[in-house]
Amino acid sequence: MTLDELRAEALTCRECPLSDRRTNVVFGEGNPKSPLVLVGEGPGETEDKLGRPFVGRAGQLLDKALADAGLSRDHVYIMNTVKCRAADWSTGKPVNRAPTEQEAVACRRWLVPQVQIIAPKVILCVGAPSAKNLIKKNFAITKERGIYFPCEYAKTAIATLHPSYILRQMNISGDGGYSLLVSDITRAWQAAQKLLNGS
Ligand code: URA
Repeated sequence: MTLDELRAEALTCRECPLSDRRTNVVFGEGNPKSPLVLVGEGPGETEDKLGRPFVGRAGQLLDKALADAGLSRDHVYIMNTVKCRAADWSTGKPVNRAPTEQEAVACRRWLVPQVQIIAPKVILCVGAPSAKNLIKKNFAITKERGIYFPCEYAKTAIATLHPSYILRQMNISGDGGYSLLVSDITRAWQAAQKLLNGS
């Protein structure tokens, strides 16, 4: 199956209740031949509206971090653990929330073949939910970010801080961990290049 065929199927998915309220399935985009894939948590409001990953405030910070690492979106492929927006609708107005375990499990039917088709050398998990899904269940982001782990879907996987977390931390102190995001992206890219060149 090709990535376009998988995308076409994913766009019709009704596997979990997130499909009831979505505007768009946010499948993923970028360079499908890249040795580096970035996997975030799930779409927020702007991503749901536009059908593209990481295009809201967190996405703008991710773009800046990619640029500071000497990269652009065209160098990598960007996707999420879940493809539809997870939100709490109890007040009538949607408030973003983390996807549940069941939602993440349901969406593995897209995530796993998507990564298998791209077959990256390195997966960069952006945030804890992605690392818990792709590296190990009990991943501890503050202790274990920046470390290379074995991964079923790539030669190695590494996790970094989520830009939304960094934006919240920036209000409290310093760069909020932004420099760690840039250095993790830089190292993940260097590792991917090395693996690509067989060294
Ligand atoms: N946060 C994510 O994890 N993914 C997006 O696409 C946007 C925000």
